[in-house]
Amino acid sequence: MSRQKAAGKFLQTLAGTRFPTPPIWLMRQAGRYLPEYRAVRATTKSFLEFCYTPDKAIEVTLQPIQRFGFDAAIIFSDILVVPDALGQKVWFEEGEGPKLEALTDPSQFGRLSRARIGDHLAPVYEAIRQTRAALPSETALLGFAGAPFTLACYMIEGSGSKDFAKVKKWAYAHPESFGLLIDLLVEAVVDHLAYQVEAGVDAVQLFDSWAGVLPEEQLFHWSLDPMMRIAKGLRERHPDVPIIAFPRAVGPAMLMYRRPDTFSALSIDTGIGAHWAAKELQPHICLQGNLDPIMLVAGGQAMEREATRILDKLGHGSFVFNLGHGVVPQTPPENVARLVEIVRNWKPGA
Ligand code: CP3
Repeated sequence: MSRQKAAGKFLQTLAGTRFPTPPIWLMRQAGRYLPEYRAVRATTKSFLEFCYTPDKAIEVTLQPIQRFGFDAAIIFSDILVVPDALGQKVWFEEGEGPKLEALTDPSQFGRLSRARIGDHLAPVYEAIRQTRAALPSETALLGFAGAPFTLACYMIEGSGSKDFAKVKKWAYAHPESFGLLIDLLVEAVVDHLAYQVEAGVDAVQLFDSWAGVLPEEQLFHWSLDPMMRIAKGLRERHPDVPIIAFPRAVGPAMLMYRRPDTFSALSIDTGIGAHWAAKELQPHICLQGNLDPIMLVAGGQAMEREATRILDKLGHGSFVFNLGHGVVPQTPPENVARLVEIVRNWKPGA
């Protein structure tokens, strides 16, 4: 397949090839820490409108590739385009993050329809098509989606939350109706990911950013099982597409997600010890991670020591260098350039 032929370091690493140094990209590598992003962002008031303007989404997707030469680009979009496409009201308030007209009752599920996804998100797929054409062939293009539990968190809380009490109470007290919402989201996310693959992404990442708020007993049911159903549904339509799972802050329950037949790689958050991950996870599955995003703000010797420690632990196995969560806005871009140098100049065993 052409995907094989065009594969650069990132895709070959997911497929099991080892290189002297690992590939690198960063979650949220396009964003407010870059002055060139802020300049393009300033031209559109609404964040969703910005996401749905292909020329702008393409430009900001390419910016971190042009500046830092990462091994993968991630299409500029947001996980909340899925609830928006389903028909829930979604908006972003400056300095406050996402807001949604919260779901409070299962009778409202009827207003959500996955039939709209293809049309509503057509600008995202157009941006993917043109970004893939503009990228160097050795640079992979990643698509992504929020995992069902994380999407349900925003859809039921109506925003971010400190304790996620509303969504958890609904899941615990009314698992049948919560399950209906999760089922709808599984199908919607399979559609959205399949359309992204058809438009040209080389791999996809599933963000379960809030999985860690669930007790371990609930994780299989509301986080892992929906992600596995998505992987199965996507593979029925696109058998070869690599899928990276990012169940954030689940601790040692990460062992449950160690399923190489289902996921091509696991993205590990900052709370997972590199030594433990090298021993318990990496012999079975490719890992991605997990520098603390605040190390990238701190920079200097602290960053260099910590990045080297992670490389010494994980760089000998199947590994993609990344952060444990997204780049934060106060990150000095020169620290990102330095991090790329550290990773590319790392000497195994030195
Ligand atoms: O470079 C990339 O990583 C690609 C683009 C991307 C964005 N959001 C752009 C964005 C990706 C992959 C996401 C994923 C996303 N969005 C997640 C999962 C990853 C994670 O962080 O846990 C979540 C939970 C969201 C929801 C979301 N979108 C929040 C909570 C916020 C507000 C936080 C903030 O930084 O303001 C957003 C807005 C958002 N999405 C911005 C960006 C660059 C900032 C808004 C702006 O530029 O005006």
